[in-house]
Amino acid sequence: MTTPNQNLPVLCLTMNPAVDLSTGTERVVPTHKLRCGETLHAAGGGGINVARVLQRLGSAAHVLCPAGGPSGEWLKSRLADEGLITSLVPIAQETRISLTVHELSSGAEYRFVMPGPALAEPEWQTCLQRLADWAPFPAWVVASGSLPPGVPADFYARVARLCRERGARLVLDASGPALAAALAAGVYLVKPNLRELSELLGEPLDDPATWQAAAQRLVDAGSAEVVALTLGHRGALLATADAVWQADPLPVAVVSAVGAGDSFVGGLVSALQRGKTLLDAFGWAVAAASATLLTVGTALCRAEDVHRLRAGVAITRLTAAQPRPPS
Ligand SMILES: Nc1ncnc2c1ncn2[C@@H]1O[C@H](COP(=O)(O)OP(=O)(O)OP(=O)(O)O)[C@@H](O)[C@H]1O
Ligand SMILES: [Mg+2]
Repeated sequence: MTTPNQNLPVLCLTMNPAVDLSTGTERVVPTHKLRCGETLHAAGGGGINVARVLQRLGSAAHVLCPAGGPSGEWLKSRLADEGLITSLVPIAQETRISLTVHELSSGAEYRFVMPGPALAEPEWQTCLQRLADWAPFPAWVVASGSLPPGVPADFYARVARLCRERGARLVLDASGPALAAALAAGVYLVKPNLRELSELLGEPLDDPATWQAAAQRLVDAGSAEVVALTLGHRGALLATADAVWQADPLPVAVVSAVGAGDSFVGGLVSALQRGKTLLDAFGWAVAAASATLLTVGTALCRAEDVHRLRAGVAITRLTAAQPRPPS
């Protein structure tokens, strides 16, 4: 196994991309036609958002995703317009469309997310093969977002094994059975939010002591070398075999939280890819997530906001590592 060159573009795997539509209406009520304002279209899906944040922060990123039908064609041209180098795997069914509706009277955001097209086995196998054949193989792979119907729950576990064989570090942002299976295979870094971690462990995580213990447990079990647990308005935790650190939330005026998690991953991986330490990267992750809160709808962070906010991120070491028994 050779260690890949760190400067290679980050490969962002997005198995369930979407055309994100966002619009606004005065009030969301049943039955009546809801007259909406201007409609914005954006290419979305976990890995695509991460790639966009990477690009904005000066890191090269490539996207690998399936795409089908007219919405898949739209996605293709939109990603090209954005200058994102994309490897698309054609699929028979149509790429999904997601809808975010901003209720103007309350400021609430309603997010309607479809399951996505069903992939046939040869289609998802082609995605895996495309990754296996990627040359030169990237040092950093991000796998982010849900798996569409038809893709087996062990898909990310297969990706995890492939990355390990090829000496690449896998950063995973997923949920449910796909997350559980990948963690059983072992990843470099996992970024659950509190709900995803609580579901994974089958336990309520009600207070800071349980958050910390749960993150540490994943590291101790060998599920991930690094656990970045995001806590929404309560900030984030970072756990490694050495210690657990906490980042306080930044006091920003929240316009829209859409994409905060993806921006967190983008900020983190961008810094790591540029050779920053894990703790510094954690600070960039919080800055990127917080900068995304300042933008409307599906819009992500602006680089200047990320740089401005980085200085305000306070990170505290919560614990020293438990002394490890000699192996
Ligand atoms: N209301 C908020 N106030 C301050 N910071 C926030 C707020 N919401 C999110 N953040 C910041 O964004 C980070 C990621 O947010 P969150 O935990 O909500 O991710 P997520 O649940 O994965 O989001 P997504 O809906 O994008 O998947 C948090 O760790 C925190 O730093
Ligand atoms: Mg998330």
